[in-house]
This record gives sequence, structure tokens and C-alpha cells, in this order.
Amino acid sequence: MTATYRVRKSNNAQVINDLQKQLYDSDELPVFAMDDREWWVVWHGEVSVAYAALRITGSCAWFSICGVVEAHRGHGLQKRLITARLAFAKKKGIASVYTYTINGNHPSARSLIHKGFVPCTPPAEHYGCWAGVRDVLYWKREL
Ligand SMILES: CC(C)(COP(=O)(O)OP(=O)(O)OC[C@H]1O[C@@H](n2cnc3c(N)ncnc32)[C@H](O)[C@@H]1OP(=O)(O)O)[C@@H](O)C(=O)NCCC(=O)NCCS
Repeated sequence: MTATYRVRKSNNAQVINDLQKQLYDSDELPVFAMDDREWWVVWHGEVSVAYAALRITGSCAWFSICGVVEAHRGHGLQKRLITARLAFAKKKGIASVYTYTINGNHPSARSLIHKGFVPCTPPAEHYGCWAGVRDVLYWKREL
């Protein structure tokens, strides 16, 4: 029987950092703090195949990362992770969700557009969230 995908909230740092290593193939990546953002993991049977995070700052929330293991791309997992994070933010009373895509990341841009994000100018006080990231397009979704 083919395993189905399950999207679950997670606070398992090991699982998340293992996915991070697998996706970005580097030993020099930051080890994510688990306490300043919310995390979701997609499971395919017993295997973790995708992850995403949301960070809440005041009345806004930020999609801070998302990644899907290559063999599992194109199955709508990023869109499911967007849906899960939007639902969580809405429950928390968040007014706006922001994120960015690095220019040329068409799959990510498509997923955000499908889920109602529109290009925007981010609030200046939040530039610091993206320090060092250049050539990006910013996106916003009102809840
Ligand atoms: C970007 C990423 C998260 C997408 O994950 P995914 O689960 O495959 O995404 P989805 O299946 O939900 O949707 C992908 C969309 O892009 C489309 N797509 C896939 N490859 C594409 C390409 N090369 N060019 C244009 N569109 C493409 C898909 O058809 C789909 O669009 P559709 O819904 O209109 O059919 C995944 O490719 C990934 O992990 N990439 C590396 C890390 C990354 O870029 N993370 C995001 C920024 S932090």
C-alpha cells in the first residue's frame, strides 16, 4: 500500500535539523532554535520528507523556511504546509503573514500565489528578519 502524506506540528529539533541537512547539504547551517518559531513536518509513512516554520512577531507572522525532499516534490506538500501555517496564524489572531522568495524560485512563488499571497513591500521594521538575503520578492497574505 502506498503511504499517504501527513502534515503534523512538530517540536522535534532532531527531525527538523536532519531535514535541513538533507535539503541543503551543508554542515555549516545554523541549528534552529525551536523556541522562537513554530514548526511543521510532513511524514510519508515513518519518514520525514518536508518541513516548514512560522515565526510570530506582534500582529504579523512570517514564513521563515520551507523545504521538501527532492523525491517528494510536486505533490502539493509546500501548499499543504502553507495551509497549515495560515490556519495556525489565523487561530492566533494574526492579521498579516509575510514571506519572501529568492528570485527565480518559481515553484515557491507559484505555491504562494495559489494560496492567496500577493507581492508587497514589507514593513521596514522587519527588514532585519531577512538580513543578508538579497534579490528577493516579498509576499503578503491578509488573514
Ligand atoms: C519550493 C519547494 C518547497 C516546493 O515544494 P513542492 O511540495 O514540490 O511544491 P508544490 O508541489 O506544493 O507546488 C510546486 C509548484 O511549482 C510548480 N513547479 C515545480 N517545478 C517547477 C519549475 N521548475 N518551474 C516552475 N514551476 C514549477 C509545480 O507545478 C507547482 O505548481 P502548480 O501548483 O501550479 O502545479 C521545493 O521545491 C523545495 O524544497 N525546494 C528547495 C528549497 C526551497 O526552495 N524552499 C523554499 C524557499 S525557503
